[in-house]
Amino acid sequence: MDASPASRTERTGALLALARSEAGPDGFLPFDRWMDLALYADGVGYYTGPRTPFGTTGDFYTAPQVHPLFAASFAERIRAVRSRLGPDRPFTLVELGPGEGTLAAGIVSALGAAWTSRGPTRVVLVERSAPLRAKALSRVRQAADPDTVVVSSVEGVSALGPFEGVVVANEFLDAQPARRLRWKGGEWRELGVRVTAEGVRAAEGPLGTPVSGPQLPTSVPEGTVVEFSPAGEGVLREVADHLVAGTWLIDDYGMEESELLLAHPEGTLATVRGHRTGPDPLAEPGEADLSTFVNWTRVRTAARAAGLDVVADTSQAEALGRWGFSGLLERAIHGAGTSEAEVRLRLSAKNLLFGFERFRVVELAPARLADRFRSTT
Ligand SMILES: C[S@@+](CC[C@H](N)C(=O)[O-])C[C@H]1O[C@@H](n2cnc3c(N)ncnc32)[C@H](O)[C@@H]1O
Repeated sequence: MDASPASRTERTGALLALARSEAGPDGFLPFDRWMDLALYADGVGYYTGPRTPFGTTGDFYTAPQVHPLFAASFAERIRAVRSRLGPDRPFTLVELGPGEGTLAAGIVSALGAAWTSRGPTRVVLVERSAPLRAKALSRVRQAADPDTVVVSSVEGVSALGPFEGVVVANEFLDAQPARRLRWKGGEWRELGVRVTAEGVRAAEGPLGTPVSGPQLPTSVPEGTVVEFSPAGEGVLREVADHLVAGTWLIDDYGMEESELLLAHPEGTLATVRGHRTGPDPLAEPGEADLSTFVNWTRVRTAARAAGLDVVADTSQAEALGRWGFSGLLERAIHGAGTSEAEVRLRLSAKNLLFGFERFRVVELAPARLADRFRSTT
């Protein structure tokens, strides 16, 4: 039985109670801990509550929801990687944070039964939110041929043990709890929240856990904020430890750390609700999305330190183009049926190519095998 609080007030109350129980005696909680609770606390976080975050009735669209051509392009890349691995070898397709499963279901449909019957094939969904996981599993199972593809879910990549295949992660890293630090009086200070009886408000404290990875800059203007996600870097290490052969396709928005410090000196933390950016990320705890730009400098450094190498790093438009987007579009137009359907298709294609302009596709592979996957498209 689902024992989640039913009303919005009850959910917010339960979330704040959790935050209070975790905060220090002065009520301070580092921002990444707060973001983790606000997005993912059982039944009361943004992604775990009763509302769907996606689509017209939700808060935002992601690329896979714009048109199946996005998933079909990923499918082409996955086909190429599998053929490099040896098409008859056991193959695992993992999606991290599939949400409702649109991308994985689209990939499986586009690849079709002929592809999956070559060697043992499984699709594994790693979705933290229980309601989204249930939706994703059901959608991907509907799309897959049960005789040739095993579809399952696990809590984390480590549960899979060593595997060969492809990992995909669309808008996964930007949703990872982020630490936010502010440069003040010659030192980095931890940004977070103060949990009070009324709610949460922005707060600042001494630097918490030491920062691993590249050294933080020390010649930035007073007040500059830097953001990065230790949780996201943890997932990088987990994938690196278990992906024996194959690649990891990460599609997300972000910037290099040096660009972030210049272009977003106050940080990139954003809240979205009902397709609009809100003015205050702390205003609707558990009811609005929270995200930060991916700090690509730290992601790449963490990946290399974990034994992964960058196979490709391009804009989303360029990656889709290299994976055969225009041919797939031509074929779809050919089968569109009506001129209205054709116009809609062209508009969706334009959106996928030009509407996600800050998005990059970074493809990683185990360093010793990276050359094998560099030239294949
Ligand atoms: C912004 S949504 C993107 C959903 C989907 N990939 C898409 O593009 O439509 C981020 C998703 O990642 C999931 N997520 C975040 N952290 C996770 C983790 N550590 N393990 C599994 N899923 C996670 C969230 O629950 C959510 O479904």
